[in-house]
Amino acid sequence: DVEKKVASLLSQMTLEEKIGQMVQQNPPYDAAGIDAMKEQIRQGRIGSLLNVVGAREVNELQRIAVQESRLGIPLIIGRDVIHGFRTIFPIPLGMAASWNEELVREAAAISAKEAASMGIRWTFTPMVDVSRDPRWGRIAESGGEDPLVNAMVARAMVQGLQGDDMSRPDRIAACVKHYVGYGAAEGGRDYNTTLIPDLYLHNVYLPPFKEAVKAGAATFMSAFNDINGVPASGNRQAIRDILKASYGFDGFVVSDWGSITEMIAHGFSADEKEAAFHGLNAGVDMEMASLSYSHHIKSLLDEGRVKMAWIDDAVARILRIKFRLGLFDQPYTSETLADSVLVHPNHLAVARRLAAESVVLLKNNSNLLPLKKGTPVALIGPLVNEPYEQLGTWVFDGKAENSVTVLTAMNEANGAGNTFFAEGLKYSRDKSTAGFRAAEQAIAKAQVVVAVMGEESILSGEAKCLAELKLPGKQAELLQLAASKGKPVVLVVMAGRPTGLAPLHHLADAILYAWHPGTMAGPALADLIFGDVVPSGKLPVTFPKGEGQIPIYYAHKNSGRPASAESWMHIDSIPVHAVQHSTGNTNHTLDYGFTPLYPFGYGLSYTTFAYSDIRLSASDMKQGGNVTASAIITNTGNVTATEVVQLYIRDLTGTYTRPVRELKGFERVTLAAGESKTVSFELGNDQLGYYFPDGRYVVEPGKFQVWIAPNAAEGTPQDLTLE
Ligand code: IFM
Repeated sequence: DVEKKVASLLSQMTLEEKIGQMVQQNPPYDAAGIDAMKEQIRQGRIGSLLNVVGAREVNELQRIAVQESRLGIPLIIGRDVIHGFRTIFPIPLGMAASWNEELVREAAAISAKEAASMGIRWTFTPMVDVSRDPRWGRIAESGGEDPLVNAMVARAMVQGLQGDDMSRPDRIAACVKHYVGYGAAEGGRDYNTTLIPDLYLHNVYLPPFKEAVKAGAATFMSAFNDINGVPASGNRQAIRDILKASYGFDGFVVSDWGSITEMIAHGFSADEKEAAFHGLNAGVDMEMASLSYSHHIKSLLDEGRVKMAWIDDAVARILRIKFRLGLFDQPYTSETLADSVLVHPNHLAVARRLAAESVVLLKNNSNLLPLKKGTPVALIGPLVNEPYEQLGTWVFDGKAENSVTVLTAMNEANGAGNTFFAEGLKYSRDKSTAGFRAAEQAIAKAQVVVAVMGEESILSGEAKCLAELKLPGKQAELLQLAASKGKPVVLVVMAGRPTGLAPLHHLADAILYAWHPGTMAGPALADLIFGDVVPSGKLPVTFPKGEGQIPIYYAHKNSGRPASAESWMHIDSIPVHAVQHSTGNTNHTLDYGFTPLYPFGYGLSYTTFAYSDIRLSASDMKQGGNVTASAIITNTGNVTATEVVQLYIRDLTGTYTRPVRELKGFERVTLAAGESKTVSFELGNDQLGYYFPDGRYVVEPGKFQVWIAPNAAEGTPQDLTLE
């Protein structure tokens, strides 16, 4: 009966009121502006606001909409609650590194509960832009390079935020963004052009969005980028044809901030009126921040360029979501709720678990980690005790005062008398070595050095792109200094992207890659450092040896001359005055070869896992049938630990060439020391087919390879024939 209510309300609305629903505004900063905004709400000229926070503040505006506007249509209030509201979880790239769908869902549910207690019923997350360029600052907000992992994040976040019933007061509407292709920005520079062949659009960039529709996502956000010459926010094929018609999405699409009028700068729309036309034509239902809809819909309708049916459809979609959110029945938020909800100890416990599970152990020479509690430890580096900087990008409502830093947590876990702290550098970009002396003194008192380095929150996220990935400032020098003292060094990296570890990873005996872990960074890292928690995170993105290797991702095509260790001639091996000397002539670079620094899916543990008896239940199958791929995973070490077991396939020949490997499943399996378990995956049409450029999903007969492996670079394939 939501549909009946929508139809009935729509039939009572004036054109101005309909247009009003399609307008989303950010409140102005001055009193006169606020008064004008209130008057517009009263007149039904604004359907949504973003960035109004606090139950009292929201209620005040909602009261105007509900009690003083003609039809009493409530506002929908949005806010970026990207990885937590007050309790901050790891950045989304870190959440993806946990490969723990259940825990990501739990974190999203907590984010929803905290945000809803402050009157926010809609958030602009999850971002599921497949991201294959670590220079791009927004890789921090994504699920990384793989469509399946991004689809997992999409599902978990949408379900966690919305639950089964969005009208519950602790649930909020998700907004899946940025539709579509934003992560493919050329050169990793934000807002940049994207060139995405349809084969890649359907197989790489769209699947997480499709999964989000399946999970019931309430809203989508159209992206800033130009795709193949048509900006995403004016892209009728992407929004109307694919998202709405083909995927059956029945919620609404909001533009990104100003992305409608930015089509003028793109060179797609001649002026604001054309931009409004292009947005409407594409199927963008609500305009964020800019006012082209408000200014021009009426004249576009009068001129017959825009159909009334488009407007009615857009408004119906917006009203549908407002009804589903229960805003008509309960537009107000309890003004005393937040105090008992924000940073609740249960929320912090989940944040601590997820932060620990998101950390990837990249290196652990001679089993340096875990350390014994009570070991004298020198804590150095600019991020040891920076409560805000451990939170990461997009934390509008996170507060440094709730953070527990590595210093605090280590003092507690290890005893203050065993922990010697001297940051060495005041911040990541600090170019002064004045603090090195104090760092040396701290190291002199310790047996082990723990260096916490990386980049501050402000250095990743929107428009925080980099040409070089190296650790900023004099951090490499500080690490070098630490390594020169002959004591084992643990490097903890907090960053919003894969940083340039290649020149310095040899300086560390152990590396914990922590992303930006959030409020509970300190306790989570102390749990890992002392072995109360065993690392289980795995990389959701390939780590390149250097910027020149980008793009480098595991699911690449094979080329006609695939590289191999035998064929690669390193630049230093080329004879000095070589003339026409063969350098292998395969798909490699002379300096870096063809492998990354760390492959996708990689991550160590404090134990080891053996993969054995890897098999397929049959070596051939018919279309529509199923084959079970299984392996016995054994914990061959002496601590209980969790392994993320990964299923990959390769379709050896196709009408269109297929990647050398594609992730088709994964499972977290927890094993006691010495324990074995069989892990199985079903393989059928859903795993073996792919999308043709026209969007048809096709399962082609032929030969496949199947791996069950610990990461994208290991394992032995099994052969499968699909008849
Ligand atoms: O949600 C964001 C988006 O990701 C980037 N532009 C602004 C929006 C709202 O703050």
